[in-house]
Amino acid sequence: MSGTLLVTGGAGFIGANFVLTVRERALAPVVNLDALTYAGNLESLAALAADDAHTFVKGGIGDRALVARLLREHRPRAVVNFAAESHVDRSIHAPAVFIETNINGTFALLETVLAYWKELPSVEQKSFRFLHISTDEVYGSLRREDPPFTERTAYAPNSPYAASKASADHLVRACHETYGLPTLTTNCSNNYGPWQFPEKLIPLVICNAREGKPLPIYGDGKQIRDWLYVVDHCEALLTVLEEGRAGENYNIGGRAERTNISLIKTLCNILDEMLPDSPHRPHGNLITHVDDRPGHDRRYAVDNGKIKSQLGWKPREKLVTGLHKTVRWYLDHQEWIDHVRSGAYRDWLDLNYAKREEVAR
Ligand code: NAD
Ligand code: DAU
Repeated sequence: MSGTLLVTGGAGFIGANFVLTVRERALAPVVNLDALTYAGNLESLAALAADDAHTFVKGGIGDRALVARLLREHRPRAVVNFAAESHVDRSIHAPAVFIETNINGTFALLETVLAYWKELPSVEQKSFRFLHISTDEVYGSLRREDPPFTERTAYAPNSPYAASKASADHLVRACHETYGLPTLTTNCSNNYGPWQFPEKLIPLVICNAREGKPLPIYGDGKQIRDWLYVVDHCEALLTVLEEGRAGENYNIGGRAERTNISLIKTLCNILDEMLPDSPHRPHGNLITHVDDRPGHDRRYAVDNGKIKSQLGWKPREKLVTGLHKTVRWYLDHQEWIDHVRSGAYRDWLDLNYAKREEVAR
């Protein structure tokens, strides 16, 4: 890989893992544009403090003047767009910021990048890529007997978050079809691993269990997600960036479907093993069923056949080993957890969980 990457949202969970991977392997210089919302954290990038080939810029993807300046000054060979509001529950409580960032922000970014791309010499135009990171949630919900989502599954988003990501995907597609911008879109399943903000299920469960707090399961806990270790996602993105065909979509998933309840029980068993002296053992006793998420998608599953057969990527990490690594990582990074669980985080817990009734099962 050669040439600078302009990465947006590179201080969030997946973006930080991606930037760390690119820089650890010295694959390319990175300009990292992140608005540092509650979900963005520079501590996740501390390993790059002395790395001259990583330039962090605080700002939003909707700031056209700033993005145009970064493009002019750094002349990236690709833009990798992770920046988004990403939490479904937050999108239910306060959807407006999802529309602003995920739709209007992506639109502004596309227009600014398009203006830059149009002025490039034709050789650079050809090799330029706009890689847009999206989600399997745009496809909606599957029944148990349905086949997994393919790239041809019709979009049917059910949450404000999913609808905003679907809109962004359509804008990216239109930018390719109408103006010729060489775009790539990836739709990935649920990620887990280091540096994930503890509002999401897996880190929330690890952090709560360690402190002997309830582990809130929405509804009956039989909803199914398809889990992928974040490093595998980053590998897939690097593959798509290098090998993907402009204008195409690629589904990415781990083929590791689990119900939420079975996933949480596995996490509790790992915690029991790793914390033999914990007063909260067995951690499974902390599981508490609470009111369901409105519009809760029942099942996600991703068919990753296209990226496997056309680009040769496949997930490497097994779910059980990935979960062990992840629990170990959170147990070893208490300081990072303490810092991200600021006052604003506690406000979120009050808003999302205080009014949820405990439900007997
Ligand atoms: P995250 O919430 O952890 O991080 C998002 C980052 O974007 C944060 O650093 C935040 O500060 C930044 N950001 C927000 N608004 C911005 C703006 N206007 N301009 C610049 N930066 C801004 O999210 P994540 O889990 O790392 O997800 C990254 C991307 O991957 C998102 O687009 C998400 O939809 C997609 N995705 C996530 C998953 C998952 O399981 N987490 C799965 C599939 C796809
Ligand atoms: O599928 C990809 C998506 O995965 C990404 O696009 C999103 O950005 C990412 O947040 C994730 O969405 P989910 O809604 O699937 O993830 P979350 O961790 O919020 O929830 C996972 C499952 O666990 C879901 O069925 C809801 C349930 N859940 C979640 C929380 C936070 C609970 O039962 N209790 C909880 O407290």
